[in-house]
Amino acid sequence: MAISKLLLSTAALASLTTAASPYDEYILAPSSRTLHPVSVYKVNGTVSDASSLTGDSPGNAVFTDPSAVTFDFENNIAGLVTLEVASVDEGQYIGIAYTESSLWISGEGSDATADAGIDEALWFYASEPGNYTVSREHERGGFRYLSLLHNTTGSIEISQVTVHYTPMPHYQDDQLRDYTGYFHCDDELINRIWYAGAYTNQMCTIDPHYGNALPFIMKINSTQLGNETGPNPWYSNYTITNGTSALVDGAKRDRLVWAGDMAIAVPAIVVSTNDLISIANSLDSLFAVQNSSTGQLPYAGLPFPAIYSATYHLYSLIGVADYYLYSDDLAYLQAKWAGWKLGLNFSLSFIDDSGMMNVTSAADWLRFGMGGHNIEANSILYYTINQGIALGQVLNESSSLLDSWAQSAAGVKASANRLLWNDTAGMYHDNETTTLMPQDGNSWAIVANLTDSSEKNTRISSGLAARWGPYGAPAVEAADAVSPFISGFELQAHLLAGDAEAALALMRLEWGFMLDDPRMTNSTFIEGYSSDGRLHYAPYTNDPRVSHAHGWATGPTATLTFYFGGIHLLTAGGATWEISPMLGNLTTVDAGFATSLGSFANQVNASSSGITGMKFTTPAGTTGTVRLPGVSGSLKSSNGTVVPLNDGSASNVAGGTWTLQLSGNSTSPGGGNGTYGNGTVTGSPTPTPVSQTTNGAATLSVSLLALVAGIVAFVL
Ligand SMILES: *[C@@H]1O[C@H](CO)[C@@H](O)[C@H](O)[C@H]1NC(C)=O
Ligand SMILES: *[C@@H]1O[C@H](CO)[C@@H](O)[C@H](O)[C@H]1NC(C)=O
Ligand SMILES: *[C@@H]1O[C@H](CO)[C@@H](O)[C@H](O)[C@H]1NC(C)=O
Ligand SMILES: *[C@@H]1O[C@H](CO)[C@@H](O)[C@H](O)[C@H]1NC(C)=O
Ligand SMILES: *[C@@H]1O[C@H](CO)[C@@H](O)[C@H](O)[C@H]1NC(C)=O
Ligand SMILES: *[C@@H]1O[C@H](CO)[C@@H](O)[C@H](O)[C@H]1NC(C)=O
Ligand SMILES: *[C@@H]1O[C@H](CO)[C@@H](O)[C@H](O)[C@H]1NC(C)=O
Ligand SMILES: *[C@@H]1O[C@H](CO)[C@@H](O)[C@H](O)[C@H]1NC(C)=O
Ligand SMILES: *[C@@H]1O[C@H](CO)[C@@H](O)[C@H](O)[C@H]1NC(C)=O
Ligand SMILES: *[C@@H]1O[C@H](CO)[C@@H](O)[C@H](O)[C@H]1NC(C)=O
Ligand SMILES: *[C@@H]1O[C@H](CO)[C@@H](O)[C@H](O)[C@H]1NC(C)=O
Ligand SMILES: *[C@@H]1O[C@H](CO)[C@@H](O)[C@H](O)[C@H]1NC(C)=O
Repeated sequence: MAISKLLLSTAALASLTTAASPYDEYILAPSSRTLHPVSVYKVNGTVSDASSLTGDSPGNAVFTDPSAVTFDFENNIAGLVTLEVASVDEGQYIGIAYTESSLWISGEGSDATADAGIDEALWFYASEPGNYTVSREHERGGFRYLSLLHNTTGSIEISQVTVHYTPMPHYQDDQLRDYTGYFHCDDELINRIWYAGAYTNQMCTIDPHYGNALPFIMKINSTQLGNETGPNPWYSNYTITNGTSALVDGAKRDRLVWAGDMAIAVPAIVVSTNDLISIANSLDSLFAVQNSSTGQLPYAGLPFPAIYSATYHLYSLIGVADYYLYSDDLAYLQAKWAGWKLGLNFSLSFIDDSGMMNVTSAADWLRFGMGGHNIEANSILYYTINQGIALGQVLNESSSLLDSWAQSAAGVKASANRLLWNDTAGMYHDNETTTLMPQDGNSWAIVANLTDSSEKNTRISSGLAARWGPYGAPAVEAADAVSPFISGFELQAHLLAGDAEAALALMRLEWGFMLDDPRMTNSTFIEGYSSDGRLHYAPYTNDPRVSHAHGWATGPTATLTFYFGGIHLLTAGGATWEISPMLGNLTTVDAGFATSLGSFANQVNASSSGITGMKFTTPAGTTGTVRLPGVSGSLKSSNGTVVPLNDGSASNVAGGTWTLQLSGNSTSPGGGNGTYGNGTVTGSPTPTPVSQTTNGAATLSVSLLALVAGIVAFVL
């Protein structure tokens, strides 16, 4: 819609339409759905020419007597395997075993999807030459390693191993790498983290006909759960949502819709692929099973049994607010609004005399001690009520209802600060009967603006950072777990507290570990692990069960775009926005993404003394604010308009392309000292003269390319 207003020459457009994304080389998604092994990881027994099965062209690997080959795809992938048998003796079997982590490579079976035991290998009786393809319900949602197992005396010759890649089922086969967003900075690890987050969510976007069926779910009410000896049968063929694609929690497991996970996954999707339909299908499946009299929403989508979770119930409501913010789809919001109000009302009914909600269900992200006046649940409630007030204003909801919501919110906030804040420790207690100070509630208190001073934000931020171990931030409320999910909220908390360097440090520590450790996939992010770096996630007894591609672990992707790129959408689709980059100790950031209103892009340079250059683009017809604390100068638009920065800020800036012009004696604080949201500037910036550096021509053309690529992708 906005394309004609962008004044791009048709020639420029034509020459750029083939470019998918400016930083294409970082994208981990395959360029085709037809994949073959990349390398041989290990050979057992006698197998000739195993490496002939790597790459596109057919080979001739001969397995003689009991023997096995494990192939490495060098990225986590998913799909349906076909083995082409070229020749075979009588009576031969060939089996297939999958695993995401190299830890679980085995001749006995795959890694696990159940709470005990491993998943069985899939066996073919190879009676004659030809192609042998696994059945559709045996699509494996996540594996980096594929083992071919031969258990019989005699020989079999395999000429090709093919995987038909199944994630993002609604995309054309050659469009898996067509991102609408991009990110680049001067730290290569951070760049890889951004793209691995984007790819993790692609892996978690599945054909909804192949959700979790599950031997495990079918036993959810059974005393047998946890007693499986394995290898267990496994298959995925339960239809979890309507539509042709769905966003689920994990690629291998659970392959179910979980609203809590979406709170992190959805913004990461918006800044990378902008795949809104999968988000809508998943949200719809939760509201489809809302209890129409109480308003209760499910812990997870079908076929998960109807369990109440105070937090996941609220996350479904947040899901609608997020979907509306990013999609600008007013009709969607209107259609959900009655259910939304009923749902919020249900949560408000748990508020007691204290002013806070009394949590009566243990169900959350599998932490322990989830009850009473829990700080995390009350922070999420406070956040949700405020989202509701904003949505209600869009919909002209009655002011008496919105006023009563505002009163409830104020009550939650006052009570939490009165009863749960420990001023000696500088953190909130989990509830008033404990001194445990959780990662989830303290992070969420800042994210929700439940804190009532910027000093509390600063104290929580430094208190959380002081607890980090060698492998990341501990979630003390979940035994010895590191939770990449809750750490995603902690990243936001550091940024809202004004500490961009802490957020970067945590990304490098925790997500760097998840990406580079040889037990991981080097491409997707794991569900959880223990604080000593073992791949044991406290809530589970069965280590091979842990999912290595979990959307809830993709917090850095949106955080990097929104806070470091500094592009904040304030109202639906970004009709109003704020540009307020914080670079921490990065020196360049180039970020952008598209919404239905058009493309948002920002290129920022900084030195240790602060921001030294910035050029951003927002869609025509939008307006926003620019906040660059400590920076003096002006903004100059591509049509020559100049807007002065007042105290580092400019408001009512029209959509367009603007370049920062620093004034001669400009001062700016260290890159990490800006704040956004409810904070105020922390520390006192040392005035330092800065001179403007011009962005190189090469970078500028990349930015233009990105802008155009975003629009092209949107128009298509
Ligand atoms: C290869 O052999 C080792 C040692 O016997 C065994 O532990 C492993 O499971 C085998 N791997 C495969 C894929 O058969
Ligand atoms: C197996 O499938 C491949 C790819 O579709 C095809 O080229 C080949 O001819 C098939 N082989 C047999 C024996 O049918
Ligand atoms: C090989 O595996 C298949 C499938 O599990 C099984 O039926 C067969 O008995 C096995 N053969 C041998 C020799 O172990
Ligand atoms: C588990 O129990 C719930 C509540 O009683 C019930 O609704 C659900 O159908 C049961 N699930 C299975 C798989 O038996
Ligand atoms: C295993 O089964 C036994 C008896 O059926 C039961 O008492 C026990 O709780 C089960 N263990 C788990 C971990 O579910
Ligand atoms: C799912 O697959 C299993 C195993 O192949 C099969 O028994 C079951 O009938 C299938 N269910 C559906 C709904 O297709
Ligand atoms: C699919 O759509 C139908 C018709 O609108 C609805 O009844 C059903 O609940 C939906 N199912 C899911 C899982 O969303
Ligand atoms: C309060 O928090 C502690 C620590 O998480 C927990 O052990 C306890 O069960 C919680 N209280 C309630 C009522 O849930
Ligand atoms: C919360 O509700 C439960 C169940 O009604 C009750 O037992 C508990 O005392 C309440 N907790 C608080 C802190 O009021
Ligand atoms: C506050 O936290 C400190 C530890 O930092 C602890 O010693 C103290 O008991 C806590 N205060 C209360 C009122 O629980
Ligand atoms: C991990 O992947 C990156 C590309 O994303 C590659 O450069 C690097 O070599 C890989 N690391 C390992 C240990 O395979
Ligand atoms: C945070 O809450 C305070 C009221 O306690 C309010 O004045 C402030 O505007 C809020 N900040 C944001 C970003 O909503």
